[in-house]
Order: sequence, then structure tokens, then C-alpha cells
Amino acid sequence: MTKKLLFLLDTDPVASVFDTVVGYDGGADHIIGYGGVTTANVGALVDGCIYTRGPKEKQFTAIFVGGGDMTAGEAVFKAVKKRFFSNFRVSAMLDSNGSNTTAAAGVALLAKARPLAGKKAVVLAGTGPVGMRAAAMLNIEGAEVVITSRQKSRADAASKAIEERFGFTPTPIEAVDNAARARAIKGAQIVFAAGAIGVPLLDEKGWQDDPTIELLADCNAQPPLGIGGVEAVDKAKDRHGKIVIGALGLGGLKLKLHRECIGKLFESADKIFDCENIYAQAKELA
Ligand SMILES: NC(=O)c1ccc[n+]([C@@H]2O[C@H](COP(=O)([O-])OP(=O)(O)OC[C@H]3O[C@@H](n4cnc5c(N)ncnc54)[C@H](OP(=O)(O)O)[C@@H]3O)[C@@H](O)[C@H]2O)c1
Repeated sequence: MTKKLLFLLDTDPVASVFDTVVGYDGGADHIIGYGGVTTANVGALVDGCIYTRGPKEKQFTAIFVGGGDMTAGEAVFKAVKKRFFSNFRVSAMLDSNGSNTTAAAGVALLAKARPLAGKKAVVLAGTGPVGMRAAAMLNIEGAEVVITSRQKSRADAASKAIEERFGFTPTPIEAVDNAARARAIKGAQIVFAAGAIGVPLLDEKGWQDDPTIELLADCNAQPPLGIGGVEAVDKAKDRHGKIVIGALGLGGLKLKLHRECIGKLFESADKIFDCENIYAQAKELA
């Protein structure tokens, strides 16, 4: 039987172990990881995927684009798709640092708990891959979106990148520390914490008595957690009268979604998984 080959094209120097494990669990027979992938060197890697198997076997070759830089991942993914023509194509998925699958799991669980349309959402540390995709998915749900960064220039750059990809502009805000982030969530209903692993972003006192906050989600599973007073295992748990979701609470859906998308890559040679359809898939699974 033709082997299911998954080519992991990573924009970081070394291909991700996390994406390798989930790739196998999603159904790949063999995973070949490349680090340091750029728009300049990806062409030959794509050619190796599209010219090697006949029309009936092409569905058993697939591409996964990952890495810690969302903008670099988007550029590589665009270059991959541009290389395809006619039936010289294979299925491909973009999930830089788990961006699409993690954000989709978090936002889908928030949307399951309560309608998000018309509400104000603040994505704390919204400049990384997960935060940028969470901003896009919150916008899909009809929320008004703000992203914070410790540096205004980084918030501006992320906002511009989101505008270029999705055609809407989240409001960029500088918030240098936990106190500033507590001020940034004033008047909002939704908080989505997307900070780097092990980095606390908001103290419990910054949200527990806030009169407008209804929903909070935190992606960081490694203590200290991103939002004080939220347990990693929380899944639509009531805390201080608000609905909270912790990193492990959303992590189960993230992994299920990630595996499911990998499995679907091998069903035909023309699947393209990115923000919009990964989010739609998350809503079905949530
Ligand atoms: N639960 C799950 O299943 C799951 C799956 C995948 C990822 N994750 C988690 O999702 C989170 C986001 O991932 P990511 O790859 O998007 O994150 P990232 O790119 O590593 O970091 C996101 C942002 O955090 C901010 N940051 C970094 N160090 C900081 C510090 N010391 N203090 C305050 N802010 C700081 C930076 O923003 P500025 O420099 O602009 O301030 C950065 O852009 C991570 O915690 C990751 O572990 C969870």
C-alpha cells in the first residue's frame, strides 16, 4: 500500500517535534521534517511532492507548514500553493506554532459557551501565531478585536499583517505589564491570553471583579499560567461569575482538531487547511 508521507516544512531552524508526533497520531506513515524553510528554498521541496507520484497516489503525499513566525509561515504557505498547477498539487496545511488549531479550539469553545458577536475581545500578547489567528477567528464570530503587545510597534505590525491577510484591522495597543493589561481589558467582554509559554499576563485581581468581562481563555499550559486564577484544566468553568477556559481545557480539542486535519490531508490531493476552514472544523468538533 502506498505510504502516507507528510512533509513538515518549518520556518524555524529545526522542524517541530510537537508537529511530528501529532502528524503520526493523525495518520501519517512517515514524516520528513525540514527546518529553515523559506520562500526562496521551498520550491524544490514542493516539486519533490508534486512530480513523484501518479494521479491516484498523489493524495498520499501532503505538506504541513509550521514554525514560530506567523508571517513567515503565511509567506511559505503562499509560495507552496503558488507552485501547484493543474493536478500537480498535494494537500497542504498551515499551522505555525499550532496557531490555527489552538486559536480555533479556544475561540470555538468560547463561542459554544456564549455568542461573541458584538462583544469586545482583547487578545493579550496577540502578536504571536496563536494570538494573530485568535484575533481573526474572533472577528469571524463578529467580535470587535483589540490586540496587545509590550511594544506598540509590534502590535502595529501584527495588526497590519492581520489586515493584509483577513481584511480587518484589530486595534493595536501597547500594554507593558500585568497592570497595563488589566487596564486594556476594561470595557471588554472577552479576554484571550496568547502569551509565550510560562509567561503570566494578567493577575486574578485584574479581572475577578471586572463588571464587563464574561469570558476568558488562556493558551499557556506551563506554570505560571497566562491568567491568574484560571486553572489549566478549566473548560467553561464558572469562576467569579465568568466563564473560563484553561490551556488544557482547550488543548484536548486542539489536538483532536490537529489530528483530524492531518487525516483529511490524505483523503484527496486538493485539500488546503488554513484559518477559516480549520475554525469551521473546530466548531463542528466543539
Ligand atoms: N493549549 C494548547 O493546546 C497550546 C497549543 C499550542 C500553543 N499553546 C500556547 O499558546 C501560547 C501562544 O503561542 P505562540 O506560539 O503564539 O506564542 P509566542 O509567539 O511564543 O508568544 C506570543 C507573544 O507573547 C509575548 N511575550 C513573550 N515573552 C513575554 C514576556 N516575558 N512577557 C510578556 N509577553 C511576552 C510576545 O508578545 P510581545 O513581544 O509583542 O509583547 C509574543 O509575541 C503559548 O503559551 C503556547 O505554549 C498552547
